[in-house]
Amino acid sequence: MQKNYTMNTNNPFLIKGYIPSNLFCDRHNETMELYGNVENGIDTTLISPRRMGKTGLIFHFFEYLDTKTDKEAIYVDIYSARSLNDFIKLLAEATLRKFPEKTSIGKRFLTLLKGLRPLVGYDAISGEPQIQIAYQSAQEKEYTLQGLLQFLDRQSVPIVLAIDEFQQITQFPEQNTEALLRTYIQPLKNVRFIFCGSRKDMMTAMFSNVKRPFFSSTQYLTLDKIDHHVYATFIQKIFAKNKIQIAPSTVDFILTWTKRHTFFTQSVCNMVYQMGKKRVTIDHVKKACFDLLKRNEPVFFQYRQLLTPAQWNFLIAIAKEGEIKQLTAKKFLGQYNLGTPSDARRISKSLVEKELILETHTKEGTMYQVYDLFLSRWLESEY
Ligand SMILES: Nc1ncnc2c1ncn2[C@@H]1O[C@H](COP(=O)(O)OP(=O)(O)OP(=O)(O)O)[C@@H](O)[C@H]1O
Ligand SMILES: [Mg+2]
Repeated sequence: MQKNYTMNTNNPFLIKGYIPSNLFCDRHNETMELYGNVENGIDTTLISPRRMGKTGLIFHFFEYLDTKTDKEAIYVDIYSARSLNDFIKLLAEATLRKFPEKTSIGKRFLTLLKGLRPLVGYDAISGEPQIQIAYQSAQEKEYTLQGLLQFLDRQSVPIVLAIDEFQQITQFPEQNTEALLRTYIQPLKNVRFIFCGSRKDMMTAMFSNVKRPFFSSTQYLTLDKIDHHVYATFIQKIFAKNKIQIAPSTVDFILTWTKRHTFFTQSVCNMVYQMGKKRVTIDHVKKACFDLLKRNEPVFFQYRQLLTPAQWNFLIAIAKEGEIKQLTAKKFLGQYNLGTPSDARRISKSLVEKELILETHTKEGTMYQVYDLFLSRWLESEY
């Protein structure tokens, strides 16, 4: 247990759940872009690496819609969906969460559901709706999906439907899911979609491949890191509001260490805040970073277990470099004893697939880094 930290439940640096707008940093342009798309009948494909803030942005945008417009917004997270069946269930539950039984849309929705002979129940603890539908045939299932989407389209209010972790549909055993969805979505007039995902390869394949049903049907929005100056000002302001002093150079240190990645920056700030200091120094921040890495060690050991020594060494080498362009360059391979260029290609490919290495395509070319920043910083310091 960490004895030197005072327990503080009012920590303003949130690392999970909904973030109220006063604790939410920036994303103004992205919010306006989403709004512009919705207003102009354009669906959006929202992409970024893990934990950059996609889900946070969606909810921030929903709050904007809620306060500024008459649009209704529905959020479906299909991360756990393994089949079309799960997808339909999650969509129906999200709709019922948005329009509960007591609302007029909710009443109509339940009537529709009843026609599908579902079992509608409510979780005893959370009170969240739970729906089970038994299908006679695949056709009936497809008909249900179409029915749910058409129902939303028929309502008198415009609807925004955000589907999070959308890449998941490519893993369904029903190979025609993409085509089905595209067919049912295309004629809708009243529903605008946000398709969200962190697997850039899968998402762009779906939306940019001429041969795929969703080809060119949406506008991309790539969520980048928050601007350094904007994030620094935000952090400074939040600490100041809580009567904690922190020098700009110390904030810069945080942002450099976390490489401005949203989740890691929030985590370090959250930890620093927990320390309960009135005046935060660089040493406090270093201690917070060190403690965060320590806490995550069990996960890192597990990674090591799951990888071959060659893969592990490869990760260490990338962590030491921070960011690297040429994975097969002689100098890099030689310096870290990584074998031949073809070994490197094979290893890096598997590490990218396992989401342990992040591959980013920039104007300057393809860049590689260890995906999990904490793992990267830990490898850098341990080896
Ligand atoms: N603009 C923001 N200001 C402050 N905190 C943020 C902001 N955006 C995201 N966060 C925080 O950063 C973390 C990651 O955000 P979020 O879960 O939205 O990322 P994500 O891109 O959806 O990740 P994943 O791909 O893993 O689903 C969350 O803990 C969230 O609280
Ligand atoms: Mg998310």
